[in-house]
Amino acid sequence: MPETLALREGYFGDPAAFQALADLLQDIFGIDISHQMALGGPDPTSMPFGYFNPSGRCVANFSAFSMPLVVNGRVVRAAGYQSGAVRPDYRGQGLYRALMQRAFDWAEREGFEAGILLTDKPGLYEPYGFRTVPQFKFQGAVPHTDSSVPRARDLDLKQEADLHIVQMALEARQPVSEIFSVVRQKEMFLLNAHFDPDIRLSLLEEDDAVIAWKPQGDTSLEILDVAARHIPPLGHIVASLGAHFERAEVFFPTDRLGWDGMATPYQGDCVLMVKGLEPASLGKPFMLSPLADF
Ligand SMILES: CC(C)(COP(=O)(O)OP(=O)(O)OC[C@H]1O[C@@H](n2cnc3c(N)ncnc32)[C@H](O)[C@@H]1OP(=O)(O)O)[C@@H](O)C(=O)NCCC(=O)NCCS
Repeated sequence: MPETLALREGYFGDPAAFQALADLLQDIFGIDISHQMALGGPDPTSMPFGYFNPSGRCVANFSAFSMPLVVNGRVVRAAGYQSGAVRPDYRGQGLYRALMQRAFDWAEREGFEAGILLTDKPGLYEPYGFRTVPQFKFQGAVPHTDSSVPRARDLDLKQEADLHIVQMALEARQPVSEIFSVVRQKEMFLLNAHFDPDIRLSLLEEDDAVIAWKPQGDTSLEILDVAARHIPPLGHIVASLGAHFERAEVFFPTDRLGWDGMATPYQGDCVLMVKGLEPASLGKPFMLSPLADF
């Protein structure tokens, strides 16, 4: 007899079901989202849709969550979509189609005006109105700044006091760009910083700013995100990270950095897809900060 699958939605209140989703994502993508539990928990706006077998194994999932964006100076109520996977034995039976439909219907009922996702399979989502948008990073020489800028201090998310500092900075942050950025996305920022051991989080104490960055060789650096009430100028940020850096690559639009880098196409593993956003509102080059990846 074929196995009966139970459809469950919004099931994160059940720790066993959350763990079953973590197991699915570990098996399919090799990532362990259960680390979120030590970083403040999953996004409370998450609305997962999943199929579970009689022994409680999650065999398919697709989740929606609230991901307000700033796009061209306007706050857009967007839904993000993530954690889409079906176990190999269950593929090709329409499970994913059913979950996508439920998630998109839910977002429409909730009044979200736009949708956003990252995928390596854009063809899956085109039938539902999503289109791929190109992303750009920004490169150039670092402006010279007074060398008396205080040195930033490295933060360690495994230290409770440091985790608290980052959480507070993320709660109070100014969107990193008016052109395109998340309004807030605490949970993914923390998980992304946790997943990539090369990402450094540094605190500019005087500015109450947390910088997510990576050194590149001796004289260059990548600025991945800035969580601060007021985004400091790029020259100031870089001087606080090390006086020897001459060139920067910035992975979000630079309108708040007092600096213009050269826009260069960004090729990640996944493409960014959106729906419900006017092409005209996406006229300037942009990318979604890697710390907001989901
Ligand atoms: C991609 C995946 C979720 C599809 O699950 P599935 O249950 O087999 O999909 P369904 O049977 O519900 O098919 C839904 C639709 O997607 C299409 N589809 C399936 N796999 C696809 C792929 N790799 N690329 C593009 N379209 C695909 C199907 O043809 C079907 O189209 P239709 O509605 O026009 O008939 C599954 O193969 C998987 O988990 N892959 C690995 C993880 C992954 O890639 N997740 C998505 C990342 S964003």
